[in-house]
Amino acid sequence: MSKRLANIAWETFSALPLTEKTPYLMQPDGVPYHTLFAQQFDYALLDQLATLANEIRAIAKTRVGAEFLRQQVTHKRAMLYFSQPSSRTFLSFVSACQILGVQTGEVRDTAISSEFKGESREDSVRTFSSYFDLIIMRTPEKGLAEHMAWVLSNSDRPIPIINAGSGQDQHPTQSLLDIYTLLRSFERGGGLRDKTMVFCGDLLRGRTVRSLSYLLTNYPNIRQIFVAPEPLQVGTDVLAILEQKGVPFLRTDNFHAAIREADAVYMTRIQDEWDNAKGESAAIDTSRFKFGPAELALLPPRAIIMHPLPRRDEIALAVDSDPRAMYWRQMRNGMWIRTALIAMTFGCEKRIHDYFRHNH
Ligand code: CP
Repeated sequence: MSKRLANIAWETFSALPLTEKTPYLMQPDGVPYHTLFAQQFDYALLDQLATLANEIRAIAKTRVGAEFLRQQVTHKRAMLYFSQPSSRTFLSFVSACQILGVQTGEVRDTAISSEFKGESREDSVRTFSSYFDLIIMRTPEKGLAEHMAWVLSNSDRPIPIINAGSGQDQHPTQSLLDIYTLLRSFERGGGLRDKTMVFCGDLLRGRTVRSLSYLLTNYPNIRQIFVAPEPLQVGTDVLAILEQKGVPFLRTDNFHAAIREADAVYMTRIQDEWDNAKGESAAIDTSRFKFGPAELALLPPRAIIMHPLPRRDEIALAVDSDPRAMYWRQMRNGMWIRTALIAMTFGCEKRIHDYFRHNH
């Protein structure tokens, strides 16, 4: 690494802007060692990751190909430390590990780990590093994965950390699968450029929106429209980045007008688990921020509908059978892009490229 986490004090590192933290988190060949936030990924790296994911999914189609993939990382073990609920992220990471032959362990409930006895997070994570070679972690606390990456890099057993969702802050691997879905969806539609992305729902507390909005700034002329009731509108931190990068954006509560202009509509759930007071979200009128048959009728024919899931009632079940509904494919894309990320983290990218070149 050109800059090393072991050579910088936590106070100094944590105070850096995200873009200045990035060099401390990458391997010498420019791929992530720790994956903590979306700002680590630029256009070239996203392209590299998507290409690798495409190759992996093609290789995995045959028994012999799947067996090749399963031999790639048999010498590594991954710990899934999820102290916040998850279905997709957890299961897709488990599947990604299985595809590459990585064995997994898990802690999903700190009430049955030694944290219950008062063990600190630092000691818990250092304990995991004694037995595993990668930690994939989801936590309700903002910045915890980052701190743990620093702790491990300053221990005698440094191992990589992948952030699988940290508080209301970042969900970098969700944004990777979102970008991958957009790239695949627009492959024959001019690519991911000159498009209008409409985000709708709880944009204030949805960490997937923060990460994806940033990643989209890597692509030319992507306009971003944020549609939400005022109390749930997107944060000023997201807008400040768009302003700084000269990305056109609009904040509005007119969902129907936005849908007519959309190339992709990204729906999100109301994240009431973050309410400060009981019933806070329920008091907000969200009825105009749902996607049903009426909204489908307004959507341009080549546009797509995305959702990080889980959903409640913000997308009607009737929408699922429309070919523009991309959220189920989006979910499966998560498994492939996470496989590619783990393959990169453990340095087996070249072997996979070579296998693909010789066999496809
Ligand atoms: N999209 C997402 O993070 O889903 P889970 O909470 O089920 O992992």
